[in-house]
Amino acid sequence: MLKVGFVGWRGMVGSVLMDRMHQQNDFSKINAVFFSTSNAGGDAPVINGASSKLLDAYNIDALLEQDCIVTTQGSEYTQKVLPLLKRKGYDGYWLDASSTLRMSDESVIVLDPINRHVIDKALKDGVKVFCGGNCTVSLMMMALNGLFANNLIEWISSMTYQSASGAGANNMRELLAQSGFLYNNVAELLTDSRADILAIDNRVNEILRSKDLPTGYFETSLAGNVIPWVDVALPNGQTKEEWKGASETNKILGFSPDAVKVDGLCVRVGSMRCHSQALTIKLNQKDLSLSEIEKIIASANEWVKVIPNTKEDTLKYLTPVAISGKLDIAIGRIRKLSFGDDYLTVFTVGDQLLWGAAEPLRRMLNILSE
Ligand code: HSE
Repeated sequence: MLKVGFVGWRGMVGSVLMDRMHQQNDFSKINAVFFSTSNAGGDAPVINGASSKLLDAYNIDALLEQDCIVTTQGSEYTQKVLPLLKRKGYDGYWLDASSTLRMSDESVIVLDPINRHVIDKALKDGVKVFCGGNCTVSLMMMALNGLFANNLIEWISSMTYQSASGAGANNMRELLAQSGFLYNNVAELLTDSRADILAIDNRVNEILRSKDLPTGYFETSLAGNVIPWVDVALPNGQTKEEWKGASETNKILGFSPDAVKVDGLCVRVGSMRCHSQALTIKLNQKDLSLSEIEKIIASANEWVKVIPNTKEDTLKYLTPVAISGKLDIAIGRIRKLSFGDDYLTVFTVGDQLLWGAAEPLRRMLNILSE
């Protein structure tokens, strides 16, 4: 059985990965060992009734014994530890949730419902580094799996509505703290039925702009606000999150960097753990009917769910609240735009921690253990 070392398993993505592995009985297929950067010698999670102790995540010799290391610890850990391991001749697999090695020539980005052929070829060619993709890109590709598989896309403009979870666990807490702070400061006015809504709104703005609002992580309010900026700036005016759209999509597909054009604006909104995206898609043919397109999208994988373009279905099935905690990738509001028969619009929602982060890694580990 594959010996697998887990690092960062207690963090948010790591915890979702652990939950999914328990649910799917994945631990019965591997020999799991748990590492810690801060609590070596402490109790490791009990796996199938067996208890063990945590190993030191900086103990290179202990890491060298693994056939595969799965890290959800973050970029810094990868940058520090993988070179040391390689220097000592580590020949096992490195399965990484962080972005550090995604665009490196030595790695493949894993999203097996889309790129199993790329993964299989990489395994044959001896590739050892496999990375989870950017959440927004993975969720968009899962939704458009059918259109990609049939080579129907010329370009995509993606306008995102990204959840707090993408920025981290502390940001999720901060969103809630901001919401609570806001509510607590207007609660009295809200119960006064004679209070003028404009007076309440003035108060809301005062609170959201006040230095007492907790903003340590977002640097501004996300409650009652949207932030049209995700990740760092690039010289061309894009943010790095926006740049990932094209670069990761094409790498996942095994295409040259510019083959499918993807660009747009990435925006943080006040949802907890689901990323949504409004996509404008330029198809490379005009003669596909909407029902043919829906069929292609719906039949591409077992998780994508086409939601009928009605208000009732949209509110019920096509929102972060509806999708949170599920593997479903909802896609709806599908219609041809008035610009022409080759212009399609869709809205899609997926769980940022599941298909956006943990699930592709979990499935890759299964491919390796098979
Ligand atoms: N960069 C993404 C975000 C999350 O900030 O929402 C991780 O892929």
